[in-house]
Order: sequence, then structure tokens, then C-alpha cells
Amino acid sequence: MATVDERLDAEQVRRDDRTHVFHSWSAQDAIDPLPVAGAEGSWFWDYDGNRYLDFSSQLVNLNIGHQHPRLIAAIQEAAGRLCTIAPPFANADRSEAARLIAEVAPGDLDRVFFTNGGAEATENAIRLARLHTGRHKVLTTYRSYHGATAGAITLTGDPRRWPSEPAMAGVVKFWGPYPYRSAFHAADELEESVRAVQHLADVLMVEGAHTVAAIVLESVVGTNGILVPPPGYLQGVRDLCDEHGIVMICDEVMSGFGRCGEWFAVDHWNVTPDLICFAKGVNSGYVPLGGVIISRTIAETFNERPYPGGLTYSGHPLACAAAVASIQAFKDEGIIEHARMLGTDVIAPALADLAARHRCVGEVRGLGVFWAIELVRNRETREPLVPYNAAGEAAAPMNEVVGACKAKGVWPFAHFNRVHVVPPCNTPVDDVRTGLAAIDEALNVADRYYTD
Ligand SMILES: Cc1ncc(COP(=O)(O)O)c(C=O)c1O
Repeated sequence: MATVDERLDAEQVRRDDRTHVFHSWSAQDAIDPLPVAGAEGSWFWDYDGNRYLDFSSQLVNLNIGHQHPRLIAAIQEAAGRLCTIAPPFANADRSEAARLIAEVAPGDLDRVFFTNGGAEATENAIRLARLHTGRHKVLTTYRSYHGATAGAITLTGDPRRWPSEPAMAGVVKFWGPYPYRSAFHAADELEESVRAVQHLADVLMVEGAHTVAAIVLESVVGTNGILVPPPGYLQGVRDLCDEHGIVMICDEVMSGFGRCGEWFAVDHWNVTPDLICFAKGVNSGYVPLGGVIISRTIAETFNERPYPGGLTYSGHPLACAAAVASIQAFKDEGIIEHARMLGTDVIAPALADLAARHRCVGEVRGLGVFWAIELVRNRETREPLVPYNAAGEAAAPMNEVVGACKAKGVWPFAHFNRVHVVPPCNTPVDDVRTGLAAIDEALNVADRYYTD
């Protein structure tokens, strides 16, 4: 164990947390956050020495793992040089981070507007699109998450949006592709792709394509199911955007920076959006950072005309120094290639094996280190192990599966009726196998809910 926080004991950490920390997305009395004493690579541990394999990459942001020495050194050196400098100045760490991000971004996306995280990236992408087009409507998918600020939560398709409604005007939802639970009654991936594009074309027709500023979608949907777009879908969206002068915004906050075994998920399909939102994996959240990568055409809109948006900490030097170190480490250590190999050689065959042996597995899908195991009560009906947005007693079967993983020392990412397999991109093969073995055992719990 490289680092243990010894300033306080676990009880005091817990007491102060319970008394003074107001936690996100939670009923405060219903939670008991685990005090974490330290972490390294793909592992973290508590004050009692219990070690957990981080199979959720925290909130699927820890693409480079915990405590990478190059990021620690870069942050320490940057802190010694210049801890903060306001956005109106040019700064070496910020400039270099922007250049490196532009270099790995597709097509002519070569300007970066920095934010502190993903939601602010969404907000600014919408603002850029609306000002660039002079239109107001934004289209986005039902099964999606784009952040928790006012505009971003309106774009969000999942139930986290409900308590914030009514929200920003001018946002219209459509169905994205999801072959396993097709909204279009498609028989296969190709049909799903064609029908999902046609559905979007129909939505544009009835909304008035000339009123639409942007179509926003997660290139590969993350929390809402690891929904990998079928072949042709993203190109179909690109074509519709081109036809109607609509800005294509790909939210790669979760899918970017190696998660899908490429720098960006869109690289799989050679599609270049007009704007890419990023955050999380850009520096694994060592210091908060996000942003929008902007096409040359959209950037030029603001050559003479001021861009009306900004943040005090936009392009913070410590965050940017961490991003520079992370991108360089990704290149030097072959982390993209490793993530890709984990997907094809380790996770895909292991999940196929799980699906063959556990009746509760309805479908496995994903790429790179971005996978979902979808659990059902019956394979014919595809009834999910727990209902959509289940809570309390209704969510008990999934809570049992999660508990079984944790009892085996694996910290999983679970959402609705799915367990996601989302370790850091540089997790060693043996650790990935360890995590998959724990999930294998945990699925016995879900099998007990199966009904013929
Ligand atoms: C696809 C996607 N977009 C946006 C966000 C919001 O990012 P943040 O929590 O940094 O605001 C998230 C966070 O999970 C996300 O997964």
C-alpha cells in the first residue's frame, strides 16, 4: 500500500462526513459512505485494510488508475510553478493541454474551450451551437446523461431529469438505437440503425429541422446502458446534420480518452462531429477538468464576435498539467492499445462465457473497457431483473448482486438492471480476470430470480 491517509481515523472521517458532508443524489440518512484510506492503480482500500478492485473506475472517470506517478509529479511541479492564473492570460500548461487534445481529436476539431467538468461542457456546447446557428432547439436521446446543471439535466434522458422539470425550453427527446430493447421493433442491428436514423429524420420533420441548433448524443451511451451504436448510425446522424445545417454534438465525457479503446469513441466509425464534450478521462479527475473541442468552422463564428461564456477556473493550470501528463502517459505506455486488447481478448470472451453459464444474463455488450451485463428474469420476455428506475424493495435483487461483488473485494458499477465492467484502461489482465471471476460468482444471486 503506497499511501494511507493517517491524519484521521476511520471513525472520525465517518463522523464528520455524516455530520457535515451533503452527498449528491442521496437521501442523506440512507447512506453510509466507505471511508477510503488510500489507492493505487486499479485498487483502493479502507482503514481496516480491506482492498477493493475499482471495477467502476470511480464514476467511470479514472481511466489511468489511481495515483499514477507521472500525474502526481506533473501536478506537484505545476503547483510549484504557478498554482492558478485566470483564463484571460496565456499559460503554458493550458496551451499544451489544448494542443495535445486537438492533436488526438478527429478531423478539424482543433480549438478547446476548457471547463471544470462534463456538465459545463454540455452547457457551453449548447451555447456554441445556438449562437453559431441562430436557432434554439436541441434534440437529445431518452437514454442519456449529460450532467446536473440546468441545461445539461434538461438534455439528460434518464430519470435524474424528472425532479428538475420543467426545465430549459426548446429541448426535444428522441429514441437512440438499442437493438436489445428496440423502440423500432427491429430484428437486427442493421435494421435498428436504419430505423433509428429514419425516426430521427421524422422527429426533425415534425419539429422543423430549420429550428434545430444541435443534436446531442453520447457516442456510446454510458451510464444508461453501454449502448454501442450499430454500424451506420452515427454516419446517419452526421448526414442529417449536414443536410439541415445542424450542429452534431458528441458527448464523450464518459466514452472518450481510451474508454472505448480509441482516443474518442467516434474514431471507431470515422465520424467527425462538430463539437466533442469531454471531461473525466482527460486527466482521470486528478484535478477537475472538462471542455468542448470545437471545429474550425464553429470557432470562426467567434473570430470577430465575442463568445459570451466563461468560468473563473477555465483551463486551470493544475488540471491542465495533469491532462498533459495523462495524454503523454497514454502514448508512452500504450494505454489505448491495452484498453482495446482488454476488450477483445479478455472481457469479450469472458462475458460470452458468463452469458453461456448464467441464465440471468440477457445480453452482454461493449468495447474497450466499457461493457454492460444486462440482467433479466427471463430470456424470452427479457423482463429486466429489476424494473426501470427501481428503488427500495424493488431494487433488492441488484443490491444483492452488488453486495456479492463487494464481499469478494470488487467494487462494481451498477445501474438499473445492469452491471457494468468498466475498470481503468491500464488495469493488468490478471486483475481484470479477478474482477470478472467475482462478478461470475455474484451472478449466482441473480440466477435465483430467474423464472421459466
Ligand atoms: C456522458 C456524460 N456527460 C456528462 C456528464 C457530466 O459530467 P460531470 O459530472 O463532470 O458534470 C457525465 C457524468 O457522468 C457523463 O457520463
